[in-house]
Amino acid sequence: MAVADDVLASFNAADPATQWRRFEQLLWFDEGLGIWLDVSRMDMGPAQLQELRPRLTRAFEAMAALEAGAIANPDEQRQVGHYWLRNPELAPDPQAGLHIQQEIQRIEQFGAAICAGSLTNAAAVPFTDVLWIGIGGSGLGPLLITRALQDPGRGLPFHFFDNVDPDGFSRTLAGLAGRLTTTLVVVVSKSGGTPEPYLGMRQARQAVEAEGGSWSAQAVAVTMLGSKLDATAAAEGWLARFDMFDWVGGRSSVTSAVGLLPGVLVGADMGGFLAGAAAMDVCTRAPSLESNPAALLAAAWYAAGEGSGRRDMVVLPYRDRLELFSRYLQQLVMESLGKKLDRAGQVVHQGLAVYGNKGSTDQHAYVQQLRDGVDNFFASFIEVLEDPAEIAPIDGEVPADFLSGFLQGTRSALMEGGRQSLSITLRRLDATSLGALIALFERAVGLYAELVNVNAYDQPGVEAGKKAAAGILELQAKLELLLADGVARSLEELRQSLALDSPEPLFWILRHLCANARGYQANGQWGQPSSLLFSRG
Ligand code: PA5
Repeated sequence: MAVADDVLASFNAADPATQWRRFEQLLWFDEGLGIWLDVSRMDMGPAQLQELRPRLTRAFEAMAALEAGAIANPDEQRQVGHYWLRNPELAPDPQAGLHIQQEIQRIEQFGAAICAGSLTNAAAVPFTDVLWIGIGGSGLGPLLITRALQDPGRGLPFHFFDNVDPDGFSRTLAGLAGRLTTTLVVVVSKSGGTPEPYLGMRQARQAVEAEGGSWSAQAVAVTMLGSKLDATAAAEGWLARFDMFDWVGGRSSVTSAVGLLPGVLVGADMGGFLAGAAAMDVCTRAPSLESNPAALLAAAWYAAGEGSGRRDMVVLPYRDRLELFSRYLQQLVMESLGKKLDRAGQVVHQGLAVYGNKGSTDQHAYVQQLRDGVDNFFASFIEVLEDPAEIAPIDGEVPADFLSGFLQGTRSALMEGGRQSLSITLRRLDATSLGALIALFERAVGLYAELVNVNAYDQPGVEAGKKAAAGILELQAKLELLLADGVARSLEELRQSLALDSPEPLFWILRHLCANARGYQANGQWGQPSSLLFSRG
């Protein structure tokens, strides 16, 4: 039933009875999932909703077409099929549906065999650890799954390379020293050509082999079939290869092997995870605003940010296990919606900034500004009702009651300051509800992208960054070749020799080289870059 206009117009009403009526009418709940969504403290007025309703109808149609196999990512000429991963019968091509089912089965069997110790390293010793190598969508989902779902003593300990920071490599490898021959190394890259996981893989391989391990008996590839990584893994006979389907984007790949494999390796119920996502997909297909939680979210985001991201989304999960959810959403939302051009080619600079960490920790960090400072955000509270039984009250003090009280307190304090917030409550946090929560945001992002007419499934900015970085590395190679003759040169001389517009990139490269034992010297004042003479001795 459509929410009454006077209720919609009552944001921040002082009268408690009006507030209560608004809460009741703008509260969505699903009994099967045990999830509530409350958007009563978002400022969605009747005029805004009137404008949004026909556009939402078109957004529902677009999402239905996407699920039916339309080329929803025209820039890459790709279908967008993450909804098929949790309901393979939806896949428009029955072969694809069958392939999804087979992959799920293979992942479950593989994970079970690794955890049971029946699938071992080359020396017949069970695996003790997992090193996961992947970045962006290939890293954040697994980080979230393992942090949210692993219980103490269950499954294998996880370690991550999600960057090319040598200090990160070194610390992670030091933590694995002595166990590298029993570490399962999973290299994840949809494209199979991203530099970060490639470099991580090379470092991991060297370290594993230095301890006497057999790389191909310990390595697993998760990538698009036929990619460079897949070809290497096939040629070298790696322990396993799993498909990261062409029609699944990195940031929506968590219901593929990217999320399922780490889930089974930490002993989580990934069948439940898929079922939760599938059940939420059913809810978010409802073609009306009031009965569709993803549409409520998308409409609330739109209204808060006036359709152009004027307010940031602050994510506050009140559970440590969900700490990574803020970062996960940051990628899902910002990489999907942060676009320069709309689908008609107009410059729009769309986006929706996301940040957050966890409650009530953040109460003692930035919530002060949320309450009293610049009104450029809306908070998204995430609450879990069922508490773990093992933490007993002491002298009648129940920590979970404090956590719950802090949430309500912050929510009320924000309201008093006229600040907007929405709240998602999970009856319990488990694999099923996590799958549902992720699916809720995936669909909200898809619907919001339709409302603002951007392609949510490409990432031209990421590609541009990759290209620019490759250009700098090429420049460094040319610079090192030039300086190989041992002659000292100024930045201006180097700039001219390399036909550059500016010496600045050379200064950055040489400052880094000189800070390390790479054979380069600088004579002159570092604070006056033009005075410096660089040479290789
Ligand atoms: O969501 C995305 O598409 C990106 O963030 C990718 O996941 C990221 O760039 C890593 O790409 P790949 O999996 O191809 O290595």
